[in-house]
Amino acid sequence: MRIEDPKIVAALPELSVELRRASSLAELTSLAIGGTTDLLRIRDHESIPGLLSLLDYHGVPHRFLGGGSNLLVGDGELLWIVLQLASPDPDVVLEGNFAQVDAAADLGRMVTYCAKHDLGGMEGLIGVPGTVGGALRMNAGAYGMQIGSYVREVKVYRAAARRIEILRGEQISFEYRHTSFAPDDMMLAVKLELPSKPYKEILQGIRICNEKRRSSQPLGQKSAGCIFKNPPGASAGRMIDELGLKGLSVGDARVSDRHANFFVNAGKASAKDMLALISNVRERVRSAFSVELEHEVVIWNA
Ligand code: EPU
Repeated sequence: MRIEDPKIVAALPELSVELRRASSLAELTSLAIGGTTDLLRIRDHESIPGLLSLLDYHGVPHRFLGGGSNLLVGDGELLWIVLQLASPDPDVVLEGNFAQVDAAADLGRMVTYCAKHDLGGMEGLIGVPGTVGGALRMNAGAYGMQIGSYVREVKVYRAAARRIEILRGEQISFEYRHTSFAPDDMMLAVKLELPSKPYKEILQGIRICNEKRRSSQPLGQKSAGCIFKNPPGASAGRMIDELGLKGLSVGDARVSDRHANFFVNAGKASAKDMLALISNVRERVRSAFSVELEHEVVIWNA
């Protein structure tokens, strides 16, 4: 979609918003799949209510993009524009055991930065690609930990109320790969409280998690991490593997040979290929195990 209205285009510089015409979502997502649309880069949180009022007033549909690492975007010309936060410098500010982090900060870099200042707890998240905002919205977790456990405050733009709010940790529910945020809430910043730990000890934990991840996940390949959530008490990856589906392909979309819940783009896969592979695998798991797998990856296809 193109922003055609000159009134919107003229208002953007005052709002510290940069317009990037015809951005390719394939270049902004770890799966390297997705069509094109106009992208607005937001440099100042405070301009968001004004920007969104402007877009709503002119009827411009929009979606919020984080790091694009857990996202499958449809092909071709997209029917909405994309909003993305630009990362401020610095994007992490430490005070005692608290880390004030911008949602646009890179998750891995944030974990490493805190570790260097003897703040731990998030070792499991090392190697998880994406932004802090994306991790927060999904309550990203790995190796027995989840980011939600450390959240004390969240600065969020609430689309329903059309304003920026600060929520306390207790006001948010963090569940397995799910939070109580509304789908159109936009994460802006988070305050984490992290346990003190010597850097050397944190580094050891990071090394162990890295090693486990390297040995079980297709890290060098284009993927969106796990495609399905694990059903209660079971492993989606193991079920898909047991059905012998590693290597199953639709075009260049392929079930990873290393981890069956990772679907990789082995070349020039389209969203259509990837969606067909997802529904094919889902169907086979349903008929073999009577289990309805739920998507873990976020799908923007309409
Ligand atoms: N397994 C197989 N075959 C496979 C994959 C896994 O038999 O192809 C078996 C493993 O041997 C193991 C069990 O299934 O016994 C579980 O596998 P794994 O330890 O790899 O964990 P997972 O449940 O598949 C979850 C998260 C990952 C996270 C890891 C490590 C979900 C959907 N996945 O994977 O998160 O990195 O644990 O904590 O919760 C993600 O969210 O995108 C993601 C990759």
